[in-house]
Amino acid sequence: MISPADRARPRATCRACGGTVVQFLDLGRQPLSDRFLTEPEIPQEYFFQLAVGLCETCTMVQLMQEVPRERMFHEDYPYYSSGSAVMQKHFADTARQLLETEAGGPDPFVVEIGCNDGVMLRTVHEAGVRHLGFEPSGKVAEAARAKGLRVRGDFFEESTAREVRASDGPADVIFAANTICHIPYLDSILRGVDALLGPDGVFVFEDPYLGDILAKTSFDQIYDEHFFLFSARSVQALAASFGFELVDVDRLAVHGGEVRYTLARAGARRPAGRVAALIAEEDAGGVATLARLDQFAAQVGRIRDDLRALLERLAAEGKRVVAYGATAKSATVANFCGIGPDLVSRVYDTTPAKQGRLTPGTHIPVHAADEFPTDPPDYALLFAWNHADEIMAKEQAFRQAGGAWILYVPHVHVRD
Ligand code: SAM
Ligand code: TMP
Ligand code: ZN
Repeated sequence: MISPADRARPRATCRACGGTVVQFLDLGRQPLSDRFLTEPEIPQEYFFQLAVGLCETCTMVQLMQEVPRERMFHEDYPYYSSGSAVMQKHFADTARQLLETEAGGPDPFVVEIGCNDGVMLRTVHEAGVRHLGFEPSGKVAEAARAKGLRVRGDFFEESTAREVRASDGPADVIFAANTICHIPYLDSILRGVDALLGPDGVFVFEDPYLGDILAKTSFDQIYDEHFFLFSARSVQALAASFGFELVDVDRLAVHGGEVRYTLARAGARRPAGRVAALIAEEDAGGVATLARLDQFAAQVGRIRDDLRALLERLAAEGKRVVAYGATAKSATVANFCGIGPDLVSRVYDTTPAKQGRLTPGTHIPVHAADEFPTDPPDYALLFAWNHADEIMAKEQAFRQAGGAWILYVPHVHVRD
């Protein structure tokens, strides 16, 4: 029975199946997560309402409101995938594995959707394999071309995929990392994959996993670019409605917990036992139920209260608190929790395109990460918690000198 409280929940139309999406969490008015500003740009800053819901029909978890793609992905998109040594290795390994298992034919063809600065395709290129990256964001695409890669500066969608099929022939592998969950127009993507993929080809994509997001209460995985939070069950339903089949799932530790999904044409390959096993695990944990998602929303509220209380106490004690990693994820945390320069004086980051600018919405100045060891604070809020091992190893001197990290995943705690 639908309770009166459930009836009052806002609703939207599912971008995967056309069913009804029921809201379970509202993270408030939020800016574009990757739009780092100069002072004069502040009055024109764009905001939207960041809320998430569950589709009653296909169980896809998704945003209630879509941000136009050109506002997010453009000439100055500032995320460079090669900024992490761990991710460079992850994608070199991924490329080698795909080449080994899927590119055995006489003239294999690998396509990547959202190739960014070429972090994955460079290994394909070095192996002498025919490839094409789709990358609509101008400067990151240029960085990939500078590595000798073949990059088309367009959004992948049905029309552009058809053009590539006509000019280059069928693809053996279509790969995407941290990109498919960014794309509300999934129908066009899957029709494009259908047009471009060879009869025995695979569509492989990896994205943050809903199961991990719930287990860790990593609500900062929800922001404008992360339109979908996938699960094996929702991806299986999506694949089936476009003539594909989910034939494998691979859990990955990167970016706080992801799943790599492998789709093949329906009936072309036998699904691995891991698919049914992961779906059974999701069902047992209630991943796709409003009861579990409401519990997650309540935990998110507690993290906000705990983080604010800690930062306010440290400010009252006169401690110097900074943040580390001007991540897209941190826009959600900072704006939802109300963390501005009064609580965190600056954010350190290695990305030149972010330095000298202000963080989205709460306008904390971004400084070069090189400056962090020269002016150590008392506390550093680790916004890039998904790169914790890499960053803490690099910044060992900070803790040795008495500094402490503040983390908020899976709950607010201090590591000194
Ligand atoms: N694959 C890289 C990685 O995992 O680090 C980059 C991920 S980045 C978060 C997402 C990328 O997808 C951006 O570079 C963006 O420009 C690109 N993108 C967004 N929509 C796209 C589309 N429809 N087709 C191709 N690329 C797209
Ligand atoms: P991501 O979590 O979306 O990958 O973003 C990571 C951000 O953190 C990006 O802006 C680069 C920055 N960063 C550092 O400043 N130092 C580091 O060692 C790493 C790995 C990332
Ligand atoms: Zn749906």
